[in-house]
Amino acid sequence: MSFITRRKTIEASVAPDGSQRLKATLSWPHLIAIGVGAIVGTGIYTLTGIGAGLAGPAVILSFLLCGAICACAAFCYAEMATMIPVAGSAYTYSYAVLGEGLAWIVGWSLVLEYTVAAAAVAVGWSGHAEALMVGAGWAIPNSLLHGLASGGLVNLPAVVIAGIVTLLLIAGTRESATLNIVLVLIKLSALVLFVALAARSFDPALFHPFAPYGFGATPDGHGSNFGVLGAAAIVFFAFYGFDTVSTAAEETKNPSRNLTIGILGSMALCTAIYVVVATVAVGAMSYKLFSKTHDAAPLVFILQSLGHGDAARIVAACVVIAIPSVILVLMYGQSRIFFVMARDGLLPQRLAAVSAKRGTPVLMTALTGLVVMAMAATMDLGQIVQLANVGTLCAFIAVAASMLALRVRDPNRPRVFRTPLAWLVGPFCILGCLYLVAGLPRFTQWWFLEWNAIGLAVYFLYGMRASKLARA
Ligand code: ALA
Repeated sequence: MSFITRRKTIEASVAPDGSQRLKATLSWPHLIAIGVGAIVGTGIYTLTGIGAGLAGPAVILSFLLCGAICACAAFCYAEMATMIPVAGSAYTYSYAVLGEGLAWIVGWSLVLEYTVAAAAVAVGWSGHAEALMVGAGWAIPNSLLHGLASGGLVNLPAVVIAGIVTLLLIAGTRESATLNIVLVLIKLSALVLFVALAARSFDPALFHPFAPYGFGATPDGHGSNFGVLGAAAIVFFAFYGFDTVSTAAEETKNPSRNLTIGILGSMALCTAIYVVVATVAVGAMSYKLFSKTHDAAPLVFILQSLGHGDAARIVAACVVIAIPSVILVLMYGQSRIFFVMARDGLLPQRLAAVSAKRGTPVLMTALTGLVVMAMAATMDLGQIVQLANVGTLCAFIAVAASMLALRVRDPNRPRVFRTPLAWLVGPFCILGCLYLVAGLPRFTQWWFLEWNAIGLAVYFLYGMRASKLARA
C-alpha cells in the first residue's frame, strides 16, 4: 500500500519554478482588496434568501460561524502557500504532506469545488438576469428559466452564460487586476445600495422569533436542513475564494505581519458585510417572504417589494455585469488543478494538453464547460451549492491537517508565515469543517462518498500506475 502514502517532496513540488521568486510588492491593503474581490460573489446575493428560509433571522449566526471557520482555514492556507508556492492549492499541499492517496481524494474533491461552484454561480446569475428581463417586459416562459429540480425544464440563461464563459476561457481570457478592482467596486456598490434603501424599512419586530428552526440541522423535506447549522452548511459558499490571498503570499512584503492583517482583515470585512446585508434583509421584510425566491434574487425581490424598482434593477444589473468573472475564475481554477494532476501523471496528460494554437487546455475546458452547463441547466441552486461546499470542506480539512502534520514532521523548516496559535486554529478549522459537513443533508453526504468511490476506482485503475512517482 506504499503507493497510497508515497509523497512528493516539498522540494520537488516547488521545483518547476522554485528558482524564480516573485517580487514582494504587496502590503495588507492590497491583500484585503484581493480577498474581498475573490470572496464576494454570487453567494450573498442569492443564498441570503435560502439561508434565511432555513434558519430564520438566526441566519446571521450562520454567517458568523462560517466566517470564523473560514478565517482559521485561511491561516492554514497561508502557511502552506508560502512553503509550497505553486499551483494546485490543497491538492499540492496534500501530495507533499499527506501522501498520494489523500491528495487524490482532495484533488478529486476540488473538482466538486470548482466545477460545481461554477454551476451554482451560473444559476445565481440567471436569477438576476431573469429579474432584468422580466422588468424589461420580456415574456419568457418559466420552463426556460428554471431547471427541472426547480419546477421548470431548463435554466437557459445559466446555460448561455456558462457557455459564453467556456468559450472565453478556451480563447485564453483571464481576469486582469484592474478589471478585478472595477468588478469589486460594482459588487460592493450594489450591496451598499441595498443596505441604504432596505434599512429605511427596518422593523426589529421581524427578528422574533430569532431562531424558529433551532440551532442544529433537521431535514426540511426538500433536500436541505433547517436550523442555524443547516443554513451555515449552505451560506458557507459565500466565503470561499480566499485562497487567492494565500497564493499572493510570495509577493507580500513582511508576510508574517501583512498576511495576518490581510487574511483576518478580508475575512472580517466580508463577514461584516454579509452580517449587515443579512440583518438588513431580515429587518426589512419577513424572511418567510423573501426566502421563497428560490433560484432567484432575494435582495432584488426585497427592494422591488419595498417600492424601490429602479434600485432593484440596478442591483440586478450589477450582478449580471460583475458575476460572470466569478464563473471564469472558478473554471480557470479547475483547469489548474486538472493540469497539475495530469502533470503528476494521475490523470491522462491528453486531457490537459494545451492547444498550440490557443495556449489553453481546450479539451479539458470544453469538458468542464459541458458539465457546468448540464448541472446549471437542471439542478436547484441549494442542491448545487451543497455539493460544491462538501468538496471545499474536504479541501479545507486537508490543508489544516497538512499544516499540523508538517509542524510535527518538519518543525525546523523555515516558514515565511506561521499560523498564529496553530494548535488551536488548525483543530478548530478541522472540527468546524466536520461540523458543517454534518450539517449537510444526507443526500449530499452520500453523493460525496459516491463521487469519491468513483474517484478511487479511477485512481486504482489508472493514476496509481501512471503516477510519475510510480515511475520514478
Ligand atoms: N464566494 C463565492 C461566491 O459567493 C464563491 O460566489
